[in-house]
Amino acid sequence: MYDLIIKNGTVVSPSSSTICDVAIKDDKIVGLGFYEAAEGIRTIDATGKYVMPGVIEAHMHCMAPFQGCLGANTFYQQSISGAFGGVTMFMDFANVFPEKSVFEAVKERREEMEESAIDFSVHGKFVKSPPELVEEIPQLTEYGVPTFKMFMTYKKEGVMIDEETMIKVFEKAKEVGGLPMLHCEDNTMAEDAIEKVRKIGDLSWVNFSKTKPQKCEAAAFERACRLAEYVDCPVMVVHTTHKEALDVARRAHESGFPIYVETGPHYLTLFDDNYEKEEGYLYLCSPPLRTPKDAEDLWQGLQDGTISVTGSDDCTFDTNEKAAFLEKDENGNYIQDFTKVVNGMSGLEVRLPILLSEGAGKGRLTINQVCALTSTNVAKIYGCYPQKGIIAPGSDADLVIVDMDKEVTLSKDILHNNISYCLHEGFKVKGYPIMTIARGKVIVESGEFKGEKGAGQFIKRKINAQYLEKFGLD
Ligand code: URP
Ligand code: ZN
Ligand code: ZN
Ligand code: ZN
Repeated sequence: MYDLIIKNGTVVSPSSSTICDVAIKDDKIVGLGFYEAAEGIRTIDATGKYVMPGVIEAHMHCMAPFQGCLGANTFYQQSISGAFGGVTMFMDFANVFPEKSVFEAVKERREEMEESAIDFSVHGKFVKSPPELVEEIPQLTEYGVPTFKMFMTYKKEGVMIDEETMIKVFEKAKEVGGLPMLHCEDNTMAEDAIEKVRKIGDLSWVNFSKTKPQKCEAAAFERACRLAEYVDCPVMVVHTTHKEALDVARRAHESGFPIYVETGPHYLTLFDDNYEKEEGYLYLCSPPLRTPKDAEDLWQGLQDGTISVTGSDDCTFDTNEKAAFLEKDENGNYIQDFTKVVNGMSGLEVRLPILLSEGAGKGRLTINQVCALTSTNVAKIYGCYPQKGIIAPGSDADLVIVDMDKEVTLSKDILHNNISYCLHEGFKVKGYPIMTIARGKVIVESGEFKGEKGAGQFIKRKINAQYLEKFGLD
């Protein structure tokens, strides 16, 4: 009947926390209740611990050619690092360029991801894509890839979407039940601001964040929402950083229009004072880090349901890639030029610990909200619920066991990505995943990885309109 029992843990869903056992057979959850241990059945004692649905990462960039760099992790390494952070499924973006078939790019990405130890999926992406590529959306959706990212900036890098194409993507997505994902920064404003600081010869790290201020993000956010409302197509805005943008979503929500909002761990815990440091280039990402006050506004948005999901936007580059195009002065210091630094920060492994410690541990969120924001809502919005995102009979046995008393100092030495630094070096958290189970197999236990290269499976996703109608979800 079952071959693994997680005994006596507090089983968490978005709406409840219940002490019971979880019975697993092969790769599925088969029951919740109280089960007898018997010979041949492995029993894991989770007394005093939370048992949560495995974290789902819907936003990362691994082995993704961007601004002349590729990233430090292979997909296998990325899956190991994720597993230590309680992640049991992740999604990455197809590598597209203007003339390339998005469908072909998605299939290539799937091939590359096959080495993952955890389940995976792919998002499509539209850049300066000709109309015939937008026509691939029904085929993509049919294939199990109903989500597509678009950048409203990076025109010079050749990946910005034009608004005419964006509307076409919205229309096609609406027709077939797809969900567009948007990177919202106003390109006109950002490029103008960059040119101004270039003219005064100050491309310092500090000035990077000044070229992409809140207005820049809010303007694009507003534009994207209005266009989405015009087409009547729900959209997901990724990596949102401050209240001005959240207020745009709140307005849409008040009128009943579903705008889904994501924020990530670095915007909640790291601030723009990092750009004053010599090593500030490691913190360059778009949108840039903001202030502690902005972070509190984001916690508020997580708390009140304006923000539906968290995503790490993991983009792990080691110092050699971050600094690849920088020059040094006579003292051996980098000559600061933010235009020469690839954008992106790591975060896959620390998202759950940060939400547990800074969210649930500090009373900003309930453990149930952490569950929704790291797993259930992600599964619902991205179309893999209830196979993923919930501890219920019939669902995949993807679980993470959490010890809220475990204190950890984040450091490069304890993380499992392939880089020589940690953005959160010295950051103390209380509350940490101690065991990860993927498809019924223990893949992290007692600080050891026990998963298998290639064990992850491609998950076909299909968006359920019933969930998409609600922006705050349950
Ligand atoms: O700076 C960032 N966020 N880099 C990753 C690509 C993206 O925009 O999401
Ligand atoms: Zn982005
Ligand atoms: Zn991203
Ligand atoms: Zn390690």
